[in-house]
Amino acid sequence: MSEKNIDETFGFATRAVHGGNETDKETGAIRRPITMANSYELPYDPSVVNWSSAEGNVYTRNGGANQRYLEKKLSLLHGAQDCIALASGVAALSGLFFSLLKSGDHVIFSSVTYIAAYRLLNELFNGKFEVETTIVDTSDLDAVRKALRPNTKLAHIETPGNPTTAITDIAAIAEIIHSIGGYLSVDNTFASPYNQRPLELGADFAVESLTKYINGHGDAMGGAILGKKELLEPIRTQAQVNLGGTISPFNAWLITRGAVTLPLRMKQHNQNALAVAAWLERQEKVRFVDYPGLASHPRHGVAAKQMFGGFGGMIAFGLDADHDTNNKFVSNLRVITSAVSLGHDESLIVFLGENDERQYLYPKRFHNGFFRLSVGLEDTDDIISDLNHALLNINKPYFGTAYLR
Ligand SMILES: Cc1ncc(COP(=O)(O)O)c(C=O)c1O
Repeated sequence: MSEKNIDETFGFATRAVHGGNETDKETGAIRRPITMANSYELPYDPSVVNWSSAEGNVYTRNGGANQRYLEKKLSLLHGAQDCIALASGVAALSGLFFSLLKSGDHVIFSSVTYIAAYRLLNELFNGKFEVETTIVDTSDLDAVRKALRPNTKLAHIETPGNPTTAITDIAAIAEIIHSIGGYLSVDNTFASPYNQRPLELGADFAVESLTKYINGHGDAMGGAILGKKELLEPIRTQAQVNLGGTISPFNAWLITRGAVTLPLRMKQHNQNALAVAAWLERQEKVRFVDYPGLASHPRHGVAAKQMFGGFGGMIAFGLDADHDTNNKFVSNLRVITSAVSLGHDESLIVFLGENDERQYLYPKRFHNGFFRLSVGLEDTDDIISDLNHALLNINKPYFGTAYLR
């Protein structure tokens, strides 16, 4: 049976299709099976086994076969030496922070991040474990330089940032943090490795919520940390074996399958979102649109430099409307679903009301309530038509779907 040995010399789509897959040696099936087992048979003398090791097959919390196939595919997609696949994006973030940081360290992190990153760093690590934290608008390089301290161990950035799509210059921050011997981690969830690969831009760690674009079908949760082998090795044991954030074999299998079509899906997300953002920008009732692919985005130039595959499917926008009217607008949508998460096949929207406790960290245009729209894979015209209908009928109840065609 021949091994395919697909490596980084192959194109992105070939790596997405074949990475991590080989013919199953037992059955000859050309797809690897799901190994739903908690335990693996011990050797004759089990006293030689290190129960806390993430190497080999002992117990699925220490690592399992499907997780390793997924890690292989993700490493190839990110151009990474190594990968740790975990149960969720938050398991990846907490695994990284708990393994890397100790009391007395200082962390700089973006003022626009997923809420759990903010809570982990600002409340748990700062509040309980004496890790110093500084929240910085990391799109402002001078502000980052000013925030450095002798004990700065980590800069954690998200770009594009959730929820506003704020853009941070990855290569520039890598240079700044490396000048004092610190590390850079980049949450790449909004972009996916098709559009942006932080390790190639100088980051030490890339973090992904696999729940989003990489799985892409809204039916499995996962997370990943990618980087150099020597940096990931100590994190793997802590994140899986001791913190217990291991991904289930079934979810690892689902995400491995979903990731096969990542390049095709991302092309469509990029194309749809650019068309939707450009349309939104032309509407009178739309107060602002932030999309990294629009020339009007405050950091469009930086996004164009580092998002080499495209600008992604995430748009932030606000209406010229009061709180109740914003909710009515969403209730009039029929193609786009009001639900959290993003990067699914279907379009999803969330109204972020005026009571977001982190609002003071965002530019003023985000203070009166705004929308985070994850543009899906539906026909572009149907998404725009749905938004148009909801805008035109903002004060009327829903009356059918005939407008769609
Ligand atoms: C940018 C970003 N990072 C991390 C996460 C957390 O991922 P998960 O929900 O898989 O734990 C999310 C979730 O929305 C996210 O948007």
